Amino acid sequence: MLVLGLETSCDETGVALYDSERGLLADALFSQIDLHRVYGGVVPELASRDHVKRMLPLIRQVLAEADCVPTEIDAIAYTAGPGLVGALLVGASCAQALAFAWGIPALGVHHMEGHLLAPMLEPKPPEFPFVALLVSGGHTQLVQVDGIGQYSLLGETLDDAAGEAFDKTAKMMGLNYPGGPEIAKLAEKGVAGRFTFPRPMCDRPGLDFSFSGLKTFALNTWQQCVGAGDDGEQARCDIALAFQQAVVETLTIKCKRALKQAGMQRLVIAGGVSANRALRLSLEKMLGDMKGEVFYARPEFCTDNGAMIAFAGCQRLQAGQQESLAISVQARWPMEQLSALG
Ligand code: KG4
Ligand code: ZN
Repeated sequence: MLVLGLETSCDETGVALYDSERGLLADALFSQIDLHRVYGGVVPELASRDHVKRMLPLIRQVLAEADCVPTEIDAIAYTAGPGLVGALLVGASCAQALAFAWGIPALGVHHMEGHLLAPMLEPKPPEFPFVALLVSGGHTQLVQVDGIGQYSLLGETLDDAAGEAFDKTAKMMGLNYPGGPEIAKLAEKGVAGRFTFPRPMCDRPGLDFSFSGLKTFALNTWQQCVGAGDDGEQARCDIALAFQQAVVETLTIKCKRALKQAGMQRLVIAGGVSANRALRLSLEKMLGDMKGEVFYARPEFCTDNGAMIAFAGCQRLQAGQQESLAISVQARWPMEQLSALG
C-alpha cells in the first residue's frame, strides 16, 4: 500500500511517500522557523498561510523524487490533531480534496501517534510492548504501549512541556527560536558544576513532571548574572548546561521508574526533544545498566515530519480504518481516545 503523508500541525510542512512493501520512498520538509523567528515563537495565522503556499510544491517534489504518479497512490494520511487549528485545516482540506479528485481514501492521523511510531522507520524497529517517552514542544508524557492504538498514560507534565521549557529558557537569555537546539549547542561549552538546578518532582513517588519551576530557576539565575555584569556567552553556556542536565536527569529518573513499574526493558523516545544528544546518552546508559534497550528515530524524524504521518496512517489504513470526506480536525485530542488495531 502506497500512502502519501501530510503534516501541517504547527510550523513545518512535511510531505512523504511511504510504501508498506518498499518502505519510505521520499520525504520533504519546509520549515517555517525563519518566518516565526522575529516574533520569538509561532504566529498561527502566518503558519496557516505558509502551509497553503508550500503544500502543493512539496507534494510535486516527493512524487518526482519517488518517480511516482498520482494513480499509484492508494491513500492519503494527514495530521488531524492535536495542533494549531488553522494549520491543521490546511493539511486536512488538501488531503480530502486530493483524495476526492483521485478517488482514494484519506485518513486523519494523531500527531503524537505519528511521533510515537517514527522510530519504526529505522532499520531496527522496537517490538511491542514498550514504554514511550513523548517529549515535544507541546507534550511530555510517559505511555505504556502494548500495540498500535493500545496506549495507557503513565504520567505527564502538570505544566510546561519539556520542549516548551527549553524554548522559554532560551528566549529569556536572548537566544533564537526554537530554543532546544540552541540550548543544546551552548551546553557543549558550559562549565559543569557552576550552577545546580533542581530535579523537579523526583523526590516523591509518581510519574508526572513539572518543568515550569526549572524555567523560573533559569530566569532567576540569568538575572543574577546580568545584575553582576556577567551576561556574556560563558554565563549563557553554563546556564544552558545546568538547565539541560536537570531536564535530562529528571526525564531519565522518571523513565527508569516507568520501566520498573511496567516491568519492561524497552524504551522508545520520540518528539522534538528526543533529538537531544545528552538525553539519548543518558537514557542509553540507564538502559545499558538495566540490560535493556532504547529506541529513537534519526534526528530529522524526531521533530515534525511527513514520514511519521505516512507511516502511522499506513498502519491504520492497512488495518481497514476509513473515514468520510468530512473535514474534521482537533486542536486538543487525548491519545487514549484512539481505537486499538486488530
Ligand atoms: O516534535 P516537535 O518538532 O514539535 C511538536 O510537536 O511540538 O518538537 C519541537 C520541540 C521544540 O520545543 C524544540 O525546542 C525541541 O523540540 N527540540 C529540542 C531539540 N531539537 C528540538 N530540544 C532539545 N534538544 C534538541 N536537540
Ligand atoms: Zn510534533
